[in-house]
Amino acid sequence: MLYIAADHGGYPLKEELKHFLIEGGYEVADLGAEELDLADDYPDYAFKLAEQVVQDEEAGGILICGTGQGMCMAANKVAGIRAVLVHNDFTAKDAADHLNANVICLGGRVTNAEMAKKFVKIWLDTEFSEDERHVRRLRKIEEMEES
Ligand code: RB5
Repeated sequence: MLYIAADHGGYPLKEELKHFLIEGGYEVADLGAEELDLADDYPDYAFKLAEQVVQDEEAGGILICGTGQGMCMAANKVAGIRAVLVHNDFTAKDAADHLNANVICLGGRVTNAEMAKKFVKIWLDTEFSEDERHVRRLRKIEEMEES
């Protein structure tokens, strides 16, 4: 399951990406915003999505705000979330093969729809490397969360 959510800074991009993913055969759950609301707050969507993603090891999440940065900050407050900002092909690939990110964050005011579709596909199509050094580094983050 792929969860997707956005505030007003990411709403138009969310709509485009959601349709792209559904057409591509992915199971997508849209956690809002349901409409463009200039007064909405990105942490509300970040926490809602993060709480879903941590319940299912197979799940992934896509969070979109104006820059992706606020979503990333908020989502990473939820234990078990590995959220990263993706803004080019390299960060999209690294998100998966080095970081095993279960959430990627995009900037609706930074990344256009064609770029975003490409980045999401790279992230989805790339496996975590399982290299010992990456497992070790991620374990250190988990230990911090557990302490
Ligand atoms: C909202 O105006 C904007 O601050 C938000 O979408 C995002 O860019 C935060 O990182």
